[in-house]
Amino acid sequence: MSQPRLFTTRAEVTHARSDAGRVALVPTMGALHEGHRALMARARQREDVDSVWVSVFVNPLQFGPTEDFDRYPRDLDADLAVCEEEGVSAVFAPSTTEMYPLGRPMVTVRAGAMGDLLEGESRPGFFDGVLTVVTKLFAILTPDIAVFGEKDAQQLAMVRRLVADLSLPPEILGVPTRRDSDGLAISSRNVYLSTAERHTALRLSQGLRAAEAARAGGAGAVRKAAHQELDAGTSDHPPLRLDYLALVDPDTFSEVEDGYSGPAVLAVAAWVGTTRLIDNVRVTL
Ligand code: PAJ
Repeated sequence: MSQPRLFTTRAEVTHARSDAGRVALVPTMGALHEGHRALMARARQREDVDSVWVSVFVNPLQFGPTEDFDRYPRDLDADLAVCEEEGVSAVFAPSTTEMYPLGRPMVTVRAGAMGDLLEGESRPGFFDGVLTVVTKLFAILTPDIAVFGEKDAQQLAMVRRLVADLSLPPEILGVPTRRDSDGLAISSRNVYLSTAERHTALRLSQGLRAAEAARAGGAGAVRKAAHQELDAGTSDHPPLRLDYLALVDPDTFSEVEDGYSGPAVLAVAAWVGTTRLIDNVRVTL
């Protein structure tokens, strides 16, 4: 396998893009793990793609003032090794000034009402930051396909709306959540967890599994089954602190009614120690 080409400036990457054929882009913030690998592998499977490109950029715009921007794990050499193993052709890893040459941008993408729900309610401005950087990556790299994980289900739904509402070219491809063998959804932030915290964190995937098993009972039963597990977690050592649990429409992320039937997403966010975790599962009611 050959090493991916590394680009750190827009000028270089634009030049290389012109003879790259059809490109599938996997946007990431680095600290690449099995979840990111799943996205790259899915992209590689596409027969209508000539090469898979990965962007690595920890986007300051999507971090709140009290969030983990400074301590977010960064290791470009390790990321390049992962990309090489996954058959990635090019990595775009710009500096903050390369991405935002005039400083904090004045003109940004507004995520709208869906961007104020759930993740957006807990992290004000988060989706504006995500959609702004995704739009910029699409403008710089002009991918034919862009690949996102279902692990961040609301982000995936928002990117689909971005592309539809602003008539952006790439096809958006969603990839199922990759989990560790104990069920925990793989995340760059899992490295923050101690052994005891990780044990508590398992309540999320266990709660979602219990909820899935209760789906024959309808929306109320699904919510109740998840709550039982997550509420039990509040007495764990260390405890789970629930941020939100919501059973929502997969396209709008608004809560579904009790008698709802059709596809839904059960989404959860919780704190264990100083680490914030999210997970979700699709349920058909
Ligand atoms: P990051 O957290 O690095 O995630 C990059 C992509 O990997 C996202 O599409 C995310 O959903 C996916 N991903 C993460 N963990 C996964 C897992 N366990 N299984 C499957 N997919 C997984 O999400 C971001 O970066 C940023 O917001 C970004 C889109 C790059 C914009 O800055």
